[in-house]
Formats: sequence, structure tokens, C-alpha cells
Amino acid sequence: MAKRKASILVIDDEESVRRSLERILSFEGYQVECASNGPLGVNMALQDEPDLILLDIKMPKMDGLEALQTLVNQGTKAPVIMISGHGTVQTAVEATKLGAFDFLEKPLDRDRLLLVVRNAVERSDLLQENRELKQEVAKRFQMVGSDASLDQLKDRIDRVAKTHATVLITGESGTGKELVARRIHEQSGRTGRFVQVNCAAIPQDLIESELFGHIKGAFTGAVENQPGKFQLADKGTIFLDEIGDMSLKTQAKVLRVLQENEVEPVGAGKTVAVDVRVVAATNKHLEQMIEAGEFREDLYYRLNVVPLHSVPLSQRRGDIPALVRHFAHQFASENNLPPQTISDSVMRQLSSRTYRGNIRELKNLVERVLILGEAYALGDDSPKSPSSEMALDHYETLKEFKEDTEKRFLLAKLKQFEGNISKTAESIQTPRSNLYKKLEHYDIVVERDIVD
Ligand SMILES: Nc1ncnc2c1ncn2[C@@H]1O[C@H](COP(=O)(O)OP(=O)(O)OP(=O)(O)O)[C@@H](O)[C@H]1O
Ligand SMILES: [Mg+2]
Repeated sequence: MAKRKASILVIDDEESVRRSLERILSFEGYQVECASNGPLGVNMALQDEPDLILLDIKMPKMDGLEALQTLVNQGTKAPVIMISGHGTVQTAVEATKLGAFDFLEKPLDRDRLLLVVRNAVERSDLLQENRELKQEVAKRFQMVGSDASLDQLKDRIDRVAKTHATVLITGESGTGKELVARRIHEQSGRTGRFVQVNCAAIPQDLIESELFGHIKGAFTGAVENQPGKFQLADKGTIFLDEIGDMSLKTQAKVLRVLQENEVEPVGAGKTVAVDVRVVAATNKHLEQMIEAGEFREDLYYRLNVVPLHSVPLSQRRGDIPALVRHFAHQFASENNLPPQTISDSVMRQLSSRTYRGNIRELKNLVERVLILGEAYALGDDSPKSPSSEMALDHYETLKEFKEDTEKRFLLAKLKQFEGNISKTAESIQTPRSNLYKKLEHYDIVVERDIVD
């Protein structure tokens, strides 16, 4: 592993030992720091977070075992290698039970020292990578918010994830159904892949081949054997998104997969066993579709073993500020930008809007604010009654109110006249020069800001 050389903290009361360890390890390219007693060493370990700690057992003040205990209690992540002098080997063995990685005996053997150090560093790197991966996954599938409905949803996900039960997620567009499905897979411990199928996006005549695969020559264009999504999701999870858009014929075939745990590739004439966890989602009312004869009732009951519902944002408006901060943070880290702050005025405006596109719309809006600035992003002319209390709630000062209203008025008029300054100026009865001044003041760029 050609990596950055690890940092090592040596804690030993004997100066000669410290010096020889420092010499040998520095020569190998490690960065070495030394501490001459237990308390100092523990402090340095907690402050500097070295990659590895070498810890003498027999020291005055605080002995190695006590120091180890403190480090473990404080959650130190670095592996600790104990250094045992004559007569303390038994203690060293005990130390490994307490969490020490390994031990070395004095007099120190150079080769054994380097071997043990190398092993420990490798292990430390692995643990670090593992922690980072876990954090990344946790962040990606984080469900932000403290509304009771969300707690309940998370709780249900936790309960159902480890089972093989089929899950049906319902909820309006943009409420996080896909996030729920991914989280279920992430927590399921299933070793296979998460395979998403958007049933609405695949043409009906191709959907069977997409789902179940086909063999070479099954139809024109089938030049190779091809596995379907169910096979790709073997030992994993298949996410049937927009299940309400599936034709009755395909519904019948999916039902069969759920019953038999096997698929029949198009043209194969025989079945293949699969072990797939099915999660489906829809923003349609399947019960109504059943009554209308558009959705199979038997499939509905098969899918709906565990129903999960993600509530619309309008029913959990209290979560908006936390979501805004989350998306601002996410946007900054995805684009390598410094932390982004959201002004109080923007937060007020975002908190009082309605979001028919739910969380997705809110997320897009936050990104727009961060890219374009508050003025462009929020100064739109979405229909709202000008005197509604909601709208007035956004403003604290008269100036803020006047400017914001004026700006929105100008944007709307400019749009109406397709950016033509003369016509706009004439219509609102102000000199062109004044209109230009206003545009400059509000940072409005005609071509860019008035297009939809
Ligand atoms: N509670 C939440 N916390 C953080 N982000 C969320 C939350 N819920 C949804 N999101 C984010 O909102 C966006 C929309 O969510 P998602 O795609 O899961 O919605 P959906 O219900 O599948 O929508 P559609 O029906 O339109 O497919 C995604 O970027 C998702 O990560
Ligand atoms: Mg979706």
C-alpha cells in the first residue's frame, strides 16, 4: 500500500527506548511523536489522534494498563501496541483482552517491531475506510426531519428491512418514496444489488423482457441472451417504481414471480429461480384502480404486505427549516463549496411556500437559491394573492416589503412583454432610464431572468 506514512505515538518512560523506537520508525518513514509518561501520552493521543500508539506497560504515575483503559473509554480509534518489559508479559496478554491490538517484548526486535506496526497500520486504515463508507451511506440515505410521521416511518423501515416481506410505499410525488426503498435495501443486509425499475418509463412491449430477460432470437433485436431486472436483483432488492402504471398483463406475470420465486425469460420456455426482495411504490390510489379494473386485487394484496406511507410536505411543514439546512449543506459538499448560509428572510420565504412537488421541489428551490441568489430564485410570480397574510409574513421591514414586491412586479411585467424594455416601461408608466436603473438595482438580467 503506497500511502501516506502513518503517525505513531510512543509512550514510554525510558528515554533510551523512546529514542531507539523513534530512530527505527522514522527511518521507515513513519511520523513519530513521543511522550515520557502515561498522562502526557493519553493527552497527546486524544489531541493528535495518531494512527497508532505504542504503549509501555511499566511506567510510574499511570501504568500502561491504566492508560489503555482511559484511551479505550475515551473512544480512541488508533490500535494500541503494548510494550512489555521483563515480567509483564502476562499483563500484556491481559491488555489484548482489554482491546490492545498486540504486544511487543523488550528487548525490542527490529523486524518484529516493524511487522507488528505494519499490521496495525493496515488494520487502522481498513477501519478508517470502513467508518468513512458507513458515514457516506448514512448521509446519502439520511431522512431529515423530526415530524412524528417520519419517526413512525423510520421505525417501520427498521422493523421491516431485515425481513423478506414485500413492501408497498405510497405517497405523493417527491415525498421520498425512493429514499425509503433504498434505505430498506441498505438496512436489509441482503448481499445482492438494489435494482430500480421505473414501470412508467418502459414501453409496454419491452417491459417483460426488461423484467424477466430474454433469450437470443426470442424476438427481432434479441441478438444476445439477456438477464432481466429480477435476475440482476438476485439476493438483493428490486424496486418496482410507479407500479400503478404496469399493464394488467405484466401485473399477472409479476404476481407469478411473487408466488413462485422464479422468472421465465422471454422465449426461454423454462423458468429460473430467483431470490429477490420486492419493494414497490406508487403515487396512485391503487384501491380506486382496483375498482376501475385497472389493477389486480390479488397482486395488490401480495405487494401490500407491509404498507408504508410517506406524508406530503404540507403535513409536516415544521421540518422545512431542517430540510433547507440539510440540502444547503449537501449542495455545498457535493460541489466542494464552503458552508452555505441561508438568510432569515430566505428561510421565512421558503417556510411559507406551498410545495406541490414536495421535498423534491424544496430541494430544487434551495439549490436554485444557492446558485442564482435569493433575488432570482425566489422572485418568481407564482400565483398567490398579493394581500394574503402568508405573503406579508415574509417581511420584517417596510423597505424589504417594498423592494421585494417591486422586484416581483418588474419581473412579471418583463415576462409579459418578453423582455422588451420599451414596452415594459411604457406599460408601467415609467421612463426607460428609470427601468434600467431598477433592473440594475435588483440585479435583474433580462434574457436570463425572464425565461421560464
Ligand atoms: N426526509 C428526507 N430527508 C432528506 N431528503 C429527502 C427526504 N425525503 C426525500 N428527500 C429527497 O427528496 C428528493 C425526492 O425524493 P424521492 O425521489 O425519494 O421521492 P419520490 O417519492 O420517489 O418521488 P416520485 O414519486 O416523484 O418518484 C430526493 O432527492 C430525496 O433524497
Ligand atoms: Mg420516485
